[in-house]
Amino acid sequence: MLYYYINFYIKFILMSLSIIVLAAGKGSRMLSKTPKVLHEVGNYPMLFHVLDTAYSIKKSKICLVISNPLLKFKEFLKKKYKNLNFCVQNQQKGTADAVKTAIIKNKNKSSVNTLVIYGDTPLIKKRTLNNALKKFRENNLDLCVISMMPNKKENSYGKLKFSKKKLVEIIEQSELKNNNSDLDMCNSGIMIFKNKYLNENIRLVKNKNNKKEFYLTDLVKIFNKKNLSIDHYTCCYEETLGVNSMIDLALVNDEFQKEKRNYFLNKGVCMLAPDTVYFSFDTKIGSNVTIEPNVFFGPSVEIKNDVYIKSFCYMDNVKVHDFVTIGPFARIRDGVQIEKESKLGNFVEIKKSKIGKNVKLSHLSYIGDSVINENSNIGAGAITCNYDGVKKNKTIIGQDCFIGSNTSLVAPLKIKKGSIIGAGTVVNQDIPIETVVYRKSELIKKHKKK
Ligand code: UD1
Ligand code: MG
Repeated sequence: MLYYYINFYIKFILMSLSIIVLAAGKGSRMLSKTPKVLHEVGNYPMLFHVLDTAYSIKKSKICLVISNPLLKFKEFLKKKYKNLNFCVQNQQKGTADAVKTAIIKNKNKSSVNTLVIYGDTPLIKKRTLNNALKKFRENNLDLCVISMMPNKKENSYGKLKFSKKKLVEIIEQSELKNNNSDLDMCNSGIMIFKNKYLNENIRLVKNKNNKKEFYLTDLVKIFNKKNLSIDHYTCCYEETLGVNSMIDLALVNDEFQKEKRNYFLNKGVCMLAPDTVYFSFDTKIGSNVTIEPNVFFGPSVEIKNDVYIKSFCYMDNVKVHDFVTIGPFARIRDGVQIEKESKLGNFVEIKKSKIGKNVKLSHLSYIGDSVINENSNIGAGAITCNYDGVKKNKTIIGQDCFIGSNTSLVAPLKIKKGSIIGAGTVVNQDIPIETVVYRKSELIKKHKKK
């Protein structure tokens, strides 16, 4: 038994991994006030994409290297990511300096190997990291670089240099001389190290280069000189797209959308023009759903089964139940639930409301902070006046009500079940059940003066 436990413990230690996520860079090429790694891909910060993937790697301890501007998000990050270690790099002196800062703070102490991931490479997959780790372990490597081969000449990545098919060096783009212009295999930025050699050699990296930065990639040359065992694992280019500029961010978002569209098409979602449909990282769509062209899904949208979404709809934070039809031109937002078989037509805006089963809201309405119960019909141009200039107020419409066209429902307001509101009425008092309401005003008819 004791033997079993010792064996298990040794195996665990050997398998255990420190993951260092670098997110402290200045991101100056973004020309943005927002820290680079907080820019969003599919409405989710790049850093969260990377941390989610890091957390999916088993038996790992994660350390995030941040800069001072990111410190204000530390508490939020601590809540979202349990047991996340932090390390602050005060001056952005390069990727090797960032890793050294983490090592000095003992952030890879309890492990044998270290995986370094960059916070600006959000599309990297768990499967790729695990495959690279497998190669690293099975071949008893001291350093493994995740490489990629772009489909056209790239000038924004470090290039892998080989000698007799052996990886010997990574040359940064800014250091490339003309005689190296034939190098085409690129560095994704992701590397796996044996801690023993990483910790020994990180101090040997110098900043004698055009950018006066400490490049982590210089370790390849250093390891090679010491005859340590180095190799690379090639993954697909799209997965390792790095973001340094707004153009890169647009490219990565584009790639993310392609992936999402393929995912939903493979799940049987019918899209008439998939390239015009925009998904968020957490969009959920059920079966037998049709989406017409030009639809935007912001964060927290869940569409159940047999739903039909017509063109030009914009939704965020919405749950749509079975057999609902929406649009064209509907905007639904900020916490809306739409129950089965309801129909929302053109130019309808719904905010923070619950729409009951089989409700018809067919044309030109604004419904805010409201509950509309089942089988009610809301006429064209009916609106809830939910804001009194100071605060938002609720409107509750009972089941089987008929709200006439062009009515103004002045909240707070309760219209009880079965009531009928005449067209054009301004309703500013609660209405009891089964009541017919209209304002009497005379229709004047005169002959035109000649
Ligand atoms: C880096 C690689 C390059 C690779 C590319 C892949 C180096 C020297 N170069 O270049 O070979 O092809 O990524 O995308 O590593 N960071 C810090 N502290 C710093 C500097 C950077 O934490 O002092 C972080 C950044 O926030 C970023 C990551 O490290 O997440 C990479 O830095 P970045 O400046 O984007 O490096 P690249 O020029 O893209
Ligand atoms: Mg980068």
